[in-house]
Amino acid sequence: MTKRLIFLGPPGAGKGTQAKRLAQQLNIPHISTGDILRGAISERTPLGQKAQSYMDRGELVPDDLILDLIRERLSQEDALQGWILDGFPRNVEQARFLEELLSELQQNSDCVLSLDVPDDVLIARLLARGRKDDGEETIRRRLEVYREQTEPVNGFYGDRLHIVRGNDTPEAVTQLLQDIVNSG
Ligand code: AP5
Ligand code: MG
Repeated sequence: MTKRLIFLGPPGAGKGTQAKRLAQQLNIPHISTGDILRGAISERTPLGQKAQSYMDRGELVPDDLILDLIRERLSQEDALQGWILDGFPRNVEQARFLEELLSELQQNSDCVLSLDVPDDVLIARLLARGRKDDGEETIRRRLEVYREQTEPVNGFYGDRLHIVRGNDTPEAVTQLLQDIVNSG
């Protein structure tokens, strides 16, 4: 069965952790714009060079660097039978772009899942992880950017959105997500 899932939620909510698990179970690609950008930075590509300073500051990378990348990725062979998007769309413009792209590709997203976790838990998780953008000041900025630019995407999806309690063990969260995906 084709599955096209969009994972939303603040930094540290568990999007990557859960997307990886579900993608494996459903045998579909896990497409994380953050991972793609970090890969570009480590390979020192032009995209990576342009993206790095935004990511280090906790700001969104400009849409013109992201949209072509998504168009290209979703057009690849392995994405025709389904995918999980993690970290995209990140603002309402990106959500509008995705709707248009999917209609061009004659696809539909099946399910939009937003992981909800209290800020103090998010901050503790990120400080414990210690990725390059997990310093205290950058975490604070990432959370602000989430509230200002990404949270409105929840409203964009309206009744297609499922809010899922993410403040539990990874296993328990996976179970909640599976229940929703399987009922859809
Ligand atoms: P991105 O890579 O997307 O990072 P993020 O959204 O800030 O989120 P994280 O990856 O930190 O958290 P997550 O929700 O994936 O949680 P995870 O599973 O890792 O983006 C990074 C940057 O790239 C952005 O700031 C921006 O600059 C740029 N960017 C990316 N996409 C973009 C776009 N579309 N447009 C513009 N710019 C873009 O878990 C976090 C930690 O918590 C881990 O250590 C994990 O082990 C732990 N954990 C997870 N679940 C649990 C649990 N249930 N219990 C306890 N610990 C848990
Ligand atoms: Mg992530």
